[in-house]
Amino acid sequence: MFPAIRPRRLRQHPQLRRMVRETVLTASDLIYPLFAVPGEGIAQEVKSMPGVYQLSVDKIVTEAQEVYDLGIPAIILFGIPDRKDLDATGAWHDCGIVQKAATAVKKALPGLIVIADTCLCEYTTHGHCGYLQVGDLTGRVLNDPTLELLQRTAVSQARAGADIIAPSGMMDGFVQAIRDALDDAGFADTPILSYAAKYASAYYGPFRDAAESSPQFGDRRTYQMDPANAREALREVELDVDEGADMIMIKPALAYMDIIWRVKEIIDLPVAAYNVSGEYSMVKAAALKGWIDEKQVVLETLTSFKRAGADLILTYHAKDAVRWLQEA
Ligand code: PBG
Ligand code: ZN
Repeated sequence: MFPAIRPRRLRQHPQLRRMVRETVLTASDLIYPLFAVPGEGIAQEVKSMPGVYQLSVDKIVTEAQEVYDLGIPAIILFGIPDRKDLDATGAWHDCGIVQKAATAVKKALPGLIVIADTCLCEYTTHGHCGYLQVGDLTGRVLNDPTLELLQRTAVSQARAGADIIAPSGMMDGFVQAIRDALDDAGFADTPILSYAAKYASAYYGPFRDAAESSPQFGDRRTYQMDPANAREALREVELDVDEGADMIMIKPALAYMDIIWRVKEIIDLPVAAYNVSGEYSMVKAAALKGWIDEKQVVLETLTSFKRAGADLILTYHAKDAVRWLQEA
C-alpha cells in the first residue's frame, strides 16, 4: 500500500545527490568567444550583450590571460575589420584582425587553444557569409567561389597560429575544401571544428551587433538551415564527418537540444553546442530586471547542454560560469 520503490531515497542528502549525479559541468567543457577590433586600448561594450566587449588586440590578450587563468581551455576569435569589400579581403589577408589577434594570443599564452571562426560575413560589404557577384542585390551566395576564399582564410589563420579552424558559413563542401587547403599548406595536424548544423536563427541578433555582420539585404536562408528540419541536420553532420571534420557543432543550442541529442547518438566525434548571443542576452536581460537568478539559470542551462550530449559548449557565460563553479 505504501510505495516500495522510492527514488527520493537517493535525494535525501547533498553528498548522496552528488554521488549519483550523472552530468558534471567543468571549466574544460567551455569555449569563450572574443571579438577583435583594430586599434589599441579599445574595450567597447556590445549594447545588446552586457558583459561582452569588442576588444583591440592588446585587450584581447589581457582577456585571454583571464580566460586561461580561470582554466578555460580555449577561445574562439571573431574579427571586425576596418574595411569591408566584396572579396572579404580582411578575412584572408595575413594582416587581418583575427590573424593579428591569434598571433598575439599564442605568443603570450602558448597554452591557450585559439580557435578561428572561418567565415566571410564580418568582412563583406553586404554582410553575407559568401561570395556575391558584383552588383548582385538579391543575395545569391555563390558556393564554389566562396570555397576558394574560405581556403585562403583558413590557411592564413593557421599560419597566424590558430590551433583550430572553425568554418561557420554552411557552404556545401566547405570542410573538404578547407581540409585540402590546410593539408597542402603543411597544416595536416590542424583540426577542423565544423559548424555542421547551423540554423537560420533569430537568436543571432545580438551577435550581429557585436560582429557588425548583419546582411545588408536578404537573409541567410539559402545557406543556413530551416529551423523546422531535424533529419537534414543529421545529413549535414554526416557530410561534414565524411569530408574530414574533427569536431562538429550544433547552433543555436537551447532551442535545438533535440538535434544535439540525435547527433550525439549517431556520431562518435566530439560534439560542440553554441549557446548563442540571443540566448545569452535573454538571460542577461531577465537577470538585470531581477526576474531570474542568473547564476542558477546559467549553470542549469550549461549542465543541460552537457546532459543533452554536448562535449563542448561555446558560451558568453563561460567566465562567470567558472567563477560560480569555483564558489560551489
Ligand atoms: C556567422 C556567425 C553567426 C554567429 C557566429 N558566426 C551568426 C550569423 O550571423 O549567421 C552567431 C553567434 C551568436 O549568435 O552568438 N558566420
Ligand atoms: Zn558568416
